[in-house]
Amino acid sequence: MSPVRIPLAAAALFAASVALSFVHLGGNPRSRAATGALLDGSGVPADVLHVLETKCGDCHSEKTSWPAYSRLAPVSWFIEHDVREGREHLNMSQWQHYTSQARIDLLSRIASEVRSGEMPLRQYLILHPQARLTSEEQQLIYDWAKSERRHIRQQIAGAQAKP
Ligand code: HEC
Repeated sequence: MSPVRIPLAAAALFAASVALSFVHLGGNPRSRAATGALLDGSGVPADVLHVLETKCGDCHSEKTSWPAYSRLAPVSWFIEHDVREGREHLNMSQWQHYTSQARIDLLSRIASEVRSGEMPLRQYLILHPQARLTSEEQQLIYDWAKSERRHIRQQIAGAQAKP
């Protein structure tokens, strides 16, 4: 390739990458952008909410921030896949729409995911090293998930006890 053609080829590749990023395999998760509070309807304290919002919210809520590189195919496809799948498993923007039983189940999963260090996903931590949970944050989320679950169970028991 002549030296003149290299920048041309690079520009063409960049343009193709931007154009291909408009292809959304499996649906466009960017079209769902919520501004409401996460975990609405739960008794989440501000410090726990802050951790969940900043370290999990990109994939588990509709308040995803999309950095510039997330606009470039094929990277955009991998990121969209994680966001779509993450929201399918747990969407903190839709908390008020989960049943009590679903919340109990999700809280158990949150507790076990943070305890085992499975979340945030490894590929996310490469680009967001600051999103790694400290051991204090792991404990904070774990304790909250357990107490919130207890609270919901008590509410269910209370409702059933009423004649
Ligand atoms: C890069 C995106 C991403 C981030 C950030 C992320 N997750 Fe996930 N999460 C996923 C994906 C994708 C799945 C589904 C596949 C899997 O379990 O690996 C998932 C699954 C889960 C599940 C369900 C597991 C199950 O058993 O069904 C829970 C709970 C969860 N994540 C909690 C968290 C918490 C808590 C954080 C923050 C500390 C977090 N995640 C950060 C992408 C993410």
